[in-house]
Amino acid sequence: MNLFNVYPINSVEIIKASGSSVWDTNGTEYLDMYGGHAVISIGHTHPHYVKRITAQLSQIGFYSNSVEIPLQQQLANKLGEISGKSNYQLFLCNSGAEANENALKLASFYNNRKKIIAFKGAFHGRTSLAVAATDNPKIIAPVNETKNVIFLPFNDEEALFQVFADQGNEISSVIVEGIQGVGGIHVASKEFLRKIRSLCDTFNAVYIADSVQCGYGRSGKFYSHDYAGVDADIYTMAKGMGNGFPIGAISITPKIKPWHGMLGTTFGGNHLACAAALAVLEVIDNENLLLNAEKTGGYLMEELKKFKQVKAVRGLGLMIGIELPEELSHVKKDLLFKHHIFTGEAKPNIIRLLPALNLTQEKADSFLDSFSKTVLQ
Ligand SMILES: Cc1ncc(COP(=O)(O)O)c(C=O)c1O
Repeated sequence: MNLFNVYPINSVEIIKASGSSVWDTNGTEYLDMYGGHAVISIGHTHPHYVKRITAQLSQIGFYSNSVEIPLQQQLANKLGEISGKSNYQLFLCNSGAEANENALKLASFYNNRKKIIAFKGAFHGRTSLAVAATDNPKIIAPVNETKNVIFLPFNDEEALFQVFADQGNEISSVIVEGIQGVGGIHVASKEFLRKIRSLCDTFNAVYIADSVQCGYGRSGKFYSHDYAGVDADIYTMAKGMGNGFPIGAISITPKIKPWHGMLGTTFGGNHLACAAALAVLEVIDNENLLLNAEKTGGYLMEELKKFKQVKAVRGLGLMIGIELPEELSHVKKDLLFKHHIFTGEAKPNIIRLLPALNLTQEKADSFLDSFSKTVLQ
């Protein structure tokens, strides 16, 4: 049986990892500035994480949501505390797409409406509603096509205002990434997020903060939307939440009331996933990783902006986009194969940095050193 060939892959096999380093089959060490696509939040194989998951697995790994699982409440308590939203409600699932799917559905249940506002350049996942709200026709299958999604330019307050003025009573939700990831690292302006908040308030629409990539401390605040100083109604999260263990969630405003059967999942919130997520939050808390993301990310951005060859540097904390001119399109491959550094990409010629939130200053400098060699060669 062959694998269904959907991923363009690099010819590297990783067999060992620790912190921000990974090793291939030849024992070559790589610096991981990609965090396995923004997933590795507390560093690979963090000892507290390994210990907590191992201990949990030797007790019980899974039972269904038909019984009490106190770990879920412990996770809700810790997440509420660290995110500063203790009064919100937690629903656990397994991935980012699933989190967004549930959020969009929940909004529709709440206000009994169908229309969704999403933005150009957005990526929200590959399940049916999430993909319909994703600005990439190539990955929307005919069965997922819907007229219920309205795409507007990102950061355009006027366009948003106009749509609400015309059809505000039909809008169920606005879904927005605090920092567009796949779209090329574009930060939502504070004014734009505040406008979403106020229009959603006026028209009883639901503000969904897709924090799957930009959330969980990556931006230097727990949710990058927090920079705007307003609360969203639903925060969706996944990637960094389990440091590689598949888990997603939505954090839901108290004004949306649950009823039995409204949402559901087989795997979501299982013992092992909760243990992984708790371990991540404990490390984020104990090691002050939000501050490190802000500091080390800020340092990286400042240094990167000094390169005249770089067209633009965008982002917040440890979610950084480096836009390069056409003639430097070799940089990403050179970083990997000549300097043994993993980075991500968004569109051709935008390098995405999404390292672990405990990236050290020393590793940041090592990246800058290699980056300067590839850019100046
Ligand atoms: C902003 C955003 N939302 C949703 C998703 C989908 O997450 P998943 O791949 O876990 O379904 C992604 C994945 O890259 C993402 O970046």
